[in-house]
Amino acid sequence: MDKLVIEGGRRIVGEIRVDGAKNAALPLLAATLLAPGTHRLENVPDLRDTRTMLRLLASFGVEWEREPGGALLLNSDRVENFEASYDLVKTMRASVLVLGPLLARLGRARVSLPGGCAIGARPIDFHTAGLAALGADFDLDAGYVDGRAARLTGNTVYFDIPSVTGTENILMAAVRARGTTVIKNAAREPEIGNLIDMLTGMGARIKGRGSDILEVEGVDELGPASVRIIPDRIETGTFMLAAAATGGELRINGCSPQHLPALIEKLRRAGVKVDQGDDWILVARDGGDITAVDVKTMPYPGFPTDLQAQFMALMTLARGTSVITETIFENRFMHVAELRRLGADISIDGHSAVVRGRKNLRGANVMATDLRASASLVIAGLVADGVTEISRIYHLDRGYAGLEKKLARAGAVIRRESE
Ligand code: EPZ
Repeated sequence: MDKLVIEGGRRIVGEIRVDGAKNAALPLLAATLLAPGTHRLENVPDLRDTRTMLRLLASFGVEWEREPGGALLLNSDRVENFEASYDLVKTMRASVLVLGPLLARLGRARVSLPGGCAIGARPIDFHTAGLAALGADFDLDAGYVDGRAARLTGNTVYFDIPSVTGTENILMAAVRARGTTVIKNAAREPEIGNLIDMLTGMGARIKGRGSDILEVEGVDELGPASVRIIPDRIETGTFMLAAAATGGELRINGCSPQHLPALIEKLRRAGVKVDQGDDWILVARDGGDITAVDVKTMPYPGFPTDLQAQFMALMTLARGTSVITETIFENRFMHVAELRRLGADISIDGHSAVVRGRKNLRGANVMATDLRASASLVIAGLVADGVTEISRIYHLDRGYAGLEKKLARAGAVIRRESE
């Protein structure tokens, strides 16, 4: 296993280009199952999770290759297998995203029930209930969700919570269902807009893009897609927070500032300078203190839960006390114990963490527990006095491609070593 070794105290200065969004690439890769032909996806990031999804698609019969320029070509002519094996699904719960497309294409899907993960139980009841509303029958057999649907039929699907992958699964099933499907309380994350654009390009008929009510008119067949993955807003936010925490000055290129309204607002309130253009953001601190601000994670366009841990790292150095409330997942404070090892003053009160800002953090050996907690520890290590070693960074590699290389090119002293 690898670890990261960071010598803190360097400002993050210069320019960084972000990759395509992991949480758009995963559903859009799954959507290639919906139609035969050769699909072309640009800007797919090369991550552990996207490599896992490609292995999963290949196990169903999809053949793929990367063009010299990096675009992915995926041929789905021969999709015959419909079983997503445990050994693949256990490493990535987003494998559940193949349920809808397989049921729509083959009328069968057998997906290992994803285990929980560090941040919560993460059930998939919204997914199976929504697909059942479209006519699928499920049973649980030896840890596998086994679904059948002779032909899916349009219906109204209401989400108690605006589930991101739940909305994506129902969308991908509904585009081939007979009749009309209305999804109410749909998630509105930008990644869903990216999926809607792909499906529309394949011949789907979807109304309500960007709203919480989506209306899908099922069609008899779909053609292959050609689509570009949107920039990763969470990778963008992670770099913004690294620049703010280190008192640096960083221009982030190839990003979508309009997808980060909540973080930009919070950083400005914390005293950080944020300028933006169509596809770039400049974050700078002019040596002033960071002011503590409160944050409450909410579905988009609220403050993203995927940036909660990274924002907490910044607040450990703020003047004052910040209350950070996590409303999406039940156990997404795994990074708190590790930040405390670096000297942070944080106490947990139910779904809230109370962060009392300190003048400095001190380097130590810490352990990554989940993807975004790892990013939080990297930010804290960049500002801590002395050396910080972060173990188990396979968590980090799920969602960031070459994070340490990008940060090193912007002034950080950070290297990967085997443990
Ligand atoms: C997506 O997960 C993202 N993953 C997560 O990013 C992100 O944190 C999350 O949305 C919230 O924004 C991908 O897009 C691949 P949800 P998802 O369904 O779809 C509960 C990262 O770091 N729920 O919106 O699984 C659930 O437990 C990852 O990149 C049910 O109860 O999240 C949670 O409390 C982490 N039953 C809430 O709803 C269900 O059937 C929202 O979850 C589904 C969800």
